[in-house]
Amino acid sequence: MASATPMAGCVLGIESSCDEMAAAVVRSGREVLSSVVASQDEVHAPYGGVVPELASRDHARVVSGVAEAALSQAGIGLAALDGIAVTAGPGLMGSLLVGVSFAKALAYRAGRPLVAVHHLAGHLAAAELADPGLEAPYLGLVVSGGHTALYRVEVDAEPRLLGQTLDDAVGEAFDKVAKLLGLGFPGGPAVSRAAESGDAEAVAFPRPMARKAGLDFSYSGLKTAVALEVRRRGDAAGMSAADIADVAASFEAAAVESLLVRARRALEAESLDRIAVVGGVAANRRLRAELEAAGERDGFGVSFPPASLCTDNAVMIAAAGARLLGRGESDGLALGAFSRVPVGETPWRGAPA
Ligand code: KG4
Ligand code: ZN
Repeated sequence: MASATPMAGCVLGIESSCDEMAAAVVRSGREVLSSVVASQDEVHAPYGGVVPELASRDHARVVSGVAEAALSQAGIGLAALDGIAVTAGPGLMGSLLVGVSFAKALAYRAGRPLVAVHHLAGHLAAAELADPGLEAPYLGLVVSGGHTALYRVEVDAEPRLLGQTLDDAVGEAFDKVAKLLGLGFPGGPAVSRAAESGDAEAVAFPRPMARKAGLDFSYSGLKTAVALEVRRRGDAAGMSAADIADVAASFEAAAVESLLVRARRALEAESLDRIAVVGGVAANRRLRAELEAAGERDGFGVSFPPASLCTDNAVMIAAAGARLLGRGESDGLALGAFSRVPVGETPWRGAPA
C-alpha cells in the first residue's frame, strides 16, 4: 500500500456475507480498536453446510448486539465514528441484506457517510493491515469457501484477476471432503486437524490442473477422487481413524500443491516478488508452511494475516472502507446488496442518496 494513501479516522465495519455476523472498529485504516465475530457453526453443523435461510434469520437476530459490542469494546459511541463500511457483495443475498440494511439505518442515525466494500477487496485489505511491509504491486491469492483466485494488486487501482477456479472453491473442497470423512462442519479446520497425524503420501490423488498451462484452478476432479477412495474403503463408518487421517492428509497435500504450482507460475508471469494469501483457507497450516518454505528457497516474500483475519471478519471491511472513505468515496442510502460481483466492479456506486 502506498504510504500516502489517505485513510478515514474511526470506521465501523459490518460483515455478514455468509455465516458470520461481524462488526469491528478500525482507526486510520490500521489500528484495530475492536473486533467481534458471531459464528453460526452451531446453527449449520447439523446440516453439514451453510443453510442460507437459517443464516439470514440468525444474522437478523444478532446484528444490533454485535455492532453494539464492537462500539463498546472500542470505547466509543456513534458520534465518534467518521464512517460506516459494509460488505455489499458478493455473498448470500439474504445474509448481505441484513448487514446492508442495518448499516444504512446506522449511517442515517449517526449522520455519517456509508461506504460499500467488496468482500474480496476486504480480504486483501486484511493482508495489508496485518503486514505494514506489504506494498503493492504484489500477488494476492484469495482462498475461501466461495473463492479461489489470483490477483495482481496495484497501488490505488482495483486488483486485476489473473486466474480463478473453474468449478469448486478450495474451501468448498475441504468442506465436502470433511463431510465424506464424517469430520463435521466447518470442514477446513477438521480436515486439517485429522491430516496432522496422517501420511500425505498414502493416496496419490490427482494434482488438479498441475500439468495444464494457465492460472486457473479446478477442484471438482480431486473431490471426486476422494469420494471414490472413501467409497472403496467402505465409507467413513468403515474406516479407522488412521485411514481417515491418511485420506485427509493426502487430499490436503494435493489441494495445497495445486495452489502452490499456480502461485509460483503467477509470480513468474507477472514478475512479482511477493505474495499475500487471504481468506479462510489461508489459516491452513500446511499451505502456510509449504509456501513459506518455497519463498525462502526461491526468494519471494510471503505474507499471511493471522488466522483471525483470514476467516470472515469485519476488521478487513473497516480497513478497506477507511481507504475508500479517505479517497472521498461513499454510497447513498439506496445501497443494495449484490450476490455476484467481480472484483473491480462497483455496481453499488452512484446509487441515489
Ligand atoms: O473466508 P471464509 O471465512 O468465508 C468465505 O468467504 O468463504 O472461508 C471459509 C472457508 C471454509 O470453506 C473453511 O472450511 C475454510 O475456509 N477453512 C480452512 C481452514 N480454516 C477455514 N480450510 C483449510 N484449512 C483450515 N485450517
Ligand atoms: Zn470470505
